[in-house]
Amino acid sequence: MTISPFKADILKGKVAFITGGGSGINFGIAQALAAHGADIAMMGRREEVLKNACDEIKSKYSVRTFYKTGDVRDADMCAAALKATNETLGHLDILVNGAAGNFLAPPELLSPNGFKTVIDIDLNGTFNMCRYAYEYLKQSKGVIINISANLHYVGTLFQSHVSAAKAGVDALTLNLAAEWGHDGIRVCGIAPGPIGDTEGMKRLAPGEVGEKLKRAIPLGRFGTTEEIGMAAVFLTSSAAAYITGETLVVDGGHWFAKPPMVPREVVEKMMQASAKKPS
Ligand code: HXC
Repeated sequence: MTISPFKADILKGKVAFITGGGSGINFGIAQALAAHGADIAMMGRREEVLKNACDEIKSKYSVRTFYKTGDVRDADMCAAALKATNETLGHLDILVNGAAGNFLAPPELLSPNGFKTVIDIDLNGTFNMCRYAYEYLKQSKGVIINISANLHYVGTLFQSHVSAAKAGVDALTLNLAAEWGHDGIRVCGIAPGPIGDTEGMKRLAPGEVGEKLKRAIPLGRFGTTEEIGMAAVFLTSSAAAYITGETLVVDGGHWFAKPPMVPREVVEKMMQASAKKPS
């Protein structure tokens, strides 16, 4: 991890639970929270991935770790993993809903079960976790971070399933923030754009497609999992104590920038030609 601008102990004494925390963006978040003192619990489907991630975090950051295999689509598994975390680590202060599924598919070729599968993981899974974390977070006056995306701000081709799911996640963020603010629980979101070296980018923008995509991003590059981690550290820290219901976009300006309708060289030539014309 590069040097953090935050103090190393700002999350000391907190317990963070991250779904899908063993890899990609979510592992970046887990590492960033651990680097600032939080104990880490995670749930995912692959035991080996969880074990390796927890071992790495423990040895790098000297925090306590805990994992349980499970699928966010199974509400009983969510409840059991949260209960076990509370029993093992003592409390729950931060829930990060990062587990997600994605693949490219035009809607007319996507099976109803394919659509449903992504809604089940991204949206229903987020609800399941929030629902069963509520009692613990009420006690700790904790915070939820829902990992969203920037796809549904526009019509992103081949992403109808994920766009619908993430729009639902954003609605849930806002609604739960309104419902649970009185209990002292903050609910925020992070909407990452294209983040390098992740499963998502391998699936959505392999090879040359990725290079072309970089040129369409105002900041000219993919983001890093560390940068998403820093957003999570900010939102879960006391620096964000009065922020709730907000989804922070961390995408280098990707979603709002459109490629030029005419290449720059052509625009320059047009300007030169019009400057030469007598008025
Ligand atoms: C079309 C597909 C498909 C594909 C699966 N399906 N893959 N349809 N194209 N590539 C369909 C199947 O045919 C099936 O429908 C249904 O989806 C369920 O598929 P399963 O393989 O049985 O589901 P499951 O094993 O539960 O796997 C879930 C998954 C998988 C989402 C399909 O890809 C997965 O587990 N992904 C987790 C990892 C992941 O995706 N990470 C990236 C997240 S990135 P039928 O009708 O045949 O039964 C991300 C970032 C977004 O979210 C933002 C980027 C900017």
